[in-house]
Amino acid sequence: MAAFNEEKILSIHHWNDTLFSFKTTRDPSLRFSNGHFTMIGLPVNGKPLLRAYSIASANYEEHLEFFSIKVPDGPLTSRLQHIQVGDTLLVGKKPTGTLLLDYLLPGKRLYLLSTGTGLAPFLSTIRDPETYERFEQVILVHGTRFVNELAYQELINHTLPEHEFLGEFVKGRLHYYPTVTREDFRNQGRITTLIENGKLFTDLGLPAINRAEDRIMICGSPAMLFDLKNLFEHRGFIEGNTSTPGEFVVERAFAEK
Ligand code: A2P
Repeated sequence: MAAFNEEKILSIHHWNDTLFSFKTTRDPSLRFSNGHFTMIGLPVNGKPLLRAYSIASANYEEHLEFFSIKVPDGPLTSRLQHIQVGDTLLVGKKPTGTLLLDYLLPGKRLYLLSTGTGLAPFLSTIRDPETYERFEQVILVHGTRFVNELAYQELINHTLPEHEFLGEFVKGRLHYYPTVTREDFRNQGRITTLIENGKLFTDLGLPAINRAEDRIMICGSPAMLFDLKNLFEHRGFIEGNTSTPGEFVVERAFAEK
């Protein structure tokens, strides 16, 4: 049996020259947890070319959604960025990953720390009612180089709080903190710096991040993961994984495709 399903592209949204999102049909047999990634791709020269992608849609939705960079000479994204509605996408049948609520110990606040397309798994997490059942406050931080890379602002700021079902969970409890490093914006600086100097917490009006109350999910570039993992380990936070829940969990955003 093939390791993937053949899905159809339902819609595509280009955010800018380097980022785009797309939705596909979803085989009813595909099961996943919010925060999971799976392999997706296209047939190239008769063979499937697949890369890992976080699923950005929630597991109760009828479609699947993905958020991708466009790498001009990337084997997959150089092709994927030209997909059209109705085209076929290969979607792996075995989603997996560590950015799951189940791999975190109970806590008061959930920090979702992302850079670039590392935002993708958290788009699933923030659409999951269970997230708000387990945590009183959810803080979504998205760091990018430029303002036009801050994708999904409309969803986070308006669609979710106004959603007929999710709105009651999200309103006043989902805090969004976009930050930009290479041009002017209301929030500036790397996530690491904003945590170290405490500006993230004073800006949000929250207590400094602490092991007793806070749980953390991290998704971004290898350098970002390395620095944030070190930062939290220095403060005594314990990493969770698929076998033992912890105080923070980490997954790399799958870039250079
Ligand atoms: P910077 O502009 O200072 O490099 P990238 O596109 O390279 O993945 O970067 C996305 C965002 O992540 C940028 O704002 C970038 O800041 C930031 N960033 C890059 N490396 C790190 C790191 N080691 N720790 C925290 N943030 C980082």
